Amino acid sequence: MLRLVLRLTGAVSLTAGAVALAVGCGGAEPDPLPQPEPTEVTFPPQFLWGTGTAGFQIESGLDHTDWGIWASLPGKIAGDDQPNDGPDALAHIASDVGLMATMGLTSYRFSIELARVYPTRADFDADTPDVAGLAAYDELIDALGDEGIEPLVTLHHFVWPSYVRDPTQPTEPQGFERDDTVALFESWCSRMGAHFGDRVDLWVTLNEPLVEASVGYLASIFPPGVSDTDRLVAVMKRQVRAHARCYDALHETDQTDANGDGVAAMVSIAKHDRVYEPFDASLDTDLDAVRRATHFWNRWFTDAIVLGDLDEDFDGDVDVTGDPALVGRADYLGLNYYGVSKVGTLSLELPHVGPVPVQIALLNDRPKTDLRWDIYPAGFAVVIDEMARYGLPIYITENGLADSKDVNRSRFLAEHLFEIGKAMLRGVDIRGYYHWSLIDNFEWAGGFCPRFGFYSVDYDSPERTRSATAAVPLMADIAATLRLTQATIDGLPAYLSAPAPCEGF
Ligand code: BGC
Repeated sequence: MLRLVLRLTGAVSLTAGAVALAVGCGGAEPDPLPQPEPTEVTFPPQFLWGTGTAGFQIESGLDHTDWGIWASLPGKIAGDDQPNDGPDALAHIASDVGLMATMGLTSYRFSIELARVYPTRADFDADTPDVAGLAAYDELIDALGDEGIEPLVTLHHFVWPSYVRDPTQPTEPQGFERDDTVALFESWCSRMGAHFGDRVDLWVTLNEPLVEASVGYLASIFPPGVSDTDRLVAVMKRQVRAHARCYDALHETDQTDANGDGVAAMVSIAKHDRVYEPFDASLDTDLDAVRRATHFWNRWFTDAIVLGDLDEDFDGDVDVTGDPALVGRADYLGLNYYGVSKVGTLSLELPHVGPVPVQIALLNDRPKTDLRWDIYPAGFAVVIDEMARYGLPIYITENGLADSKDVNRSRFLAEHLFEIGKAMLRGVDIRGYYHWSLIDNFEWAGGFCPRFGFYSVDYDSPERTRSATAAVPLMADIAATLRLTQATIDGLPAYLSAPAPCEGF
């Protein structure tokens, strides 16, 4: 068993990456003739315009979760910020849905918290959901329905009730280290499909499974807070099984076509893919690190649930092909895109994992967000094209930036939407875009400093007042006109690099 200590600068900094597209792709196809850059892109009327959130990041009253406990431990969260001081979204359902409606949004991605619906293990086992907990999500989904906003429901976004994962017992098998968690998750999906399936067609089973696993079991800045690659890969192997069983459960229980498009349920994961770049492009070892990082972080999980191809021993080769318990368990692919990482010479090499993309602020000319992540719209094209190889529809389930000064979001939004438009011109089937996030939120280990919201939240006001950022009218205009021009982008303010960095994170 390998134990290690990693020092990382951010909660989601040890996350995946996708690579330079071309890596490992064979190169048999002739290069297409260069096309002139379009001066405008358009979107079809049925394209979904959305924002995303996650329950724990915006709700109060989830102290009885692993994250509730984790946040109460000294030094785990920047500034010792506490989630209960956040936007308190369940007290603002009507007004938050109103904000979306005013923007002309047509979809909303959010998560349902298992711990709110089943606060105790006894509740879960007896299937006696908490009445108020379930009612809150009914209220939200009905309010969205009244405004014609399509829900995209995530069933697990990083957080478990403490009866599933308890960070005060880090040496105990936790969460998806246990087979009974896979069974529990399947039941959870089945119950949610049965209860909400008449109003929900779009589902995400697991949000960013590799981020959750790696940040909890490698970087140890998420619960359960350990550094152990054996435990990490044990979790990953159960995550793919849990996803597949949830997929089947949702298709069994959700047979109502709520939005009238002829399909009752579209089920997938939200997958965090990144561009991986070599530290030194002249070194074969660094190029090989890029290839291996791409395999582990971007393709391992997706290969399993789309193709049924499983690299069980994490050596880079497929050990099981077309596993019937896994193959075909994605109706679309959800892509979360946040940027680029480097691997090679300066990265750690770990058993099972290979090169670890330890993300520090990269030394290059790209502008940085408040979390010092590169702003890299061109990389979006790379990961979109890489994901498009699976031949499934794509929803951009997350894309956004920490920008507390509200100086970069408009250009960021427009440039990333332009990349989506260009990808669609290349023939990629992209069906929707969910900007992260609707409102400022509790940014995991980063606390409240990183501000991702379209609407900024005044945490000092008792009402948790929401105020529109400059990108709100821009998003509303693009969603209304279904059109974005290069001239519009050129008219937006230039980027400021790291305008208000989140120190100590
Ligand atoms: C997660 C979100 C998080 C966002 C920004 C994604 O990895 O799904 O929960 O807020 O990144 O860090």
